[in-house]
Amino acid sequence: MRACKVQLHRDIPATPLWGYAGQFPGPTIVARRGEPLLVEWTNALPTKHFLPIDHTLHGAEKDHPEVRAVTHVHGARVSAEADGFPEDWYAPGHSTLYRYANGQDAATLWYHDHAMGITRLNVYAGLFGAYIVRDAQEQALNLPTGEYDIPLMLCDRLVAQDGQLYYPVSDDPDAPWVMQCNGNLVLCNGKIFPYLEVEPRRYRLRLINVANTRFFDLSLSHDQAMQQIASDQGLLAAALERARIELYPAERAEVVIDFASFAGKSLQLRDESQGILEFRVRDNGHRDTSALPATLRPIPRIDPANAARNRILTLNETDDANGNAMTMLLDGKRWSDPITENPRQNSVETWSFVNLTGDAHPIHLHLVRFQVVDRRPFDLFAWNAHRKLVFTGPPLPPEPQELGWKDTVRADPGMVTRIAMRFEGEPGRYVWHCHFLEHEDNEMMRPYELLPAHS
Ligand code: C2O
Ligand code: CU
Repeated sequence: MRACKVQLHRDIPATPLWGYAGQFPGPTIVARRGEPLLVEWTNALPTKHFLPIDHTLHGAEKDHPEVRAVTHVHGARVSAEADGFPEDWYAPGHSTLYRYANGQDAATLWYHDHAMGITRLNVYAGLFGAYIVRDAQEQALNLPTGEYDIPLMLCDRLVAQDGQLYYPVSDDPDAPWVMQCNGNLVLCNGKIFPYLEVEPRRYRLRLINVANTRFFDLSLSHDQAMQQIASDQGLLAAALERARIELYPAERAEVVIDFASFAGKSLQLRDESQGILEFRVRDNGHRDTSALPATLRPIPRIDPANAARNRILTLNETDDANGNAMTMLLDGKRWSDPITENPRQNSVETWSFVNLTGDAHPIHLHLVRFQVVDRRPFDLFAWNAHRKLVFTGPPLPPEPQELGWKDTVRADPGMVTRIAMRFEGEPGRYVWHCHFLEHEDNEMMRPYELLPAHS
């Protein structure tokens, strides 16, 4: 991790950023299932941060080094020591060697900083990259591969005309934290509205929302549909035709787009009506030998009736001590409160997120993949008055694109969002949190402990 200067657009002077290997986004790591990988993550950043630290946030107190970093591979089944626990940060001049077993199905993962209290600033500064896991089963499908398989990391940033990067601040200079961060520009792989020359054939695009808070509503121009083939944790059961794809922070969707009928034309990937990426379709006479099979892989459903525990966990919003800024909590608890979520290794649990706030929050669990069971409206007044969960309507099934494996789920306001997972992995301390990075940095994150299986 080091400071770098990156030109985000031809007409804008280079922007000072932080990047893995001095690149923005960092290099794409491609791993194969079953082949372990060792990465030495070296903090070679400057000792002063260039974005506004809020020292009132837990873990960002003045007596800590200003610049701290620790890397987490989002969606990886990894041992606790190599998971990038937020308190395992280290200062410039230090490094850590992490081992990734890659014992999991092919999927689009991504790596990013996770340092306690400044994750939002470090990721915003540029500390993220793609991490792709491949496996033989997926390879046998003959999906577009090689140069026809491209990760697209989407985010927004506040950039001035001189190229300087800004992070928004509150009006309290001693507590600059803001509840959300919205940029003036959308970046695709670190560029403002870039173009890609493509052949008139199928491409596999891996869409990754790496923004702090922004959600993307993606579509193609010319009313062209996309075939969604995968979600966060790999392939869906079958390709799904989508006119638009919504992605909350940290969510992924993989699509296959066939440019065969667009030779000589161009097509745009858009967020609502704003162009993000332009495809310029060139005919070069190559033959497309890739395939898009009708079925991709079986996704066995987890039966929530097999759960060893059903946890009810609230998402809360409260005024903080000074009465202006808000603090967001998980189950009414702070980071430093004793651990309460302590699943047993290999057991199945359901977690129900009771959203008491006015907004949707993207909730992410480290280590495990899960399935969305349902969303069900509930009576907020009954909850507030007697802590009673009273449903006000029938459960809604997961949306079609949510029927695959996920690691981040949108918990809607006024709803109980229920997920089910088997806690496969090595015992130890992991975390779960809201993936709006501003919320995560301000108490909307909790440690959890995976306990060894009963012997
Ligand atoms: Cu994307 Cu806790 O991580
Ligand atoms: Cu949140």
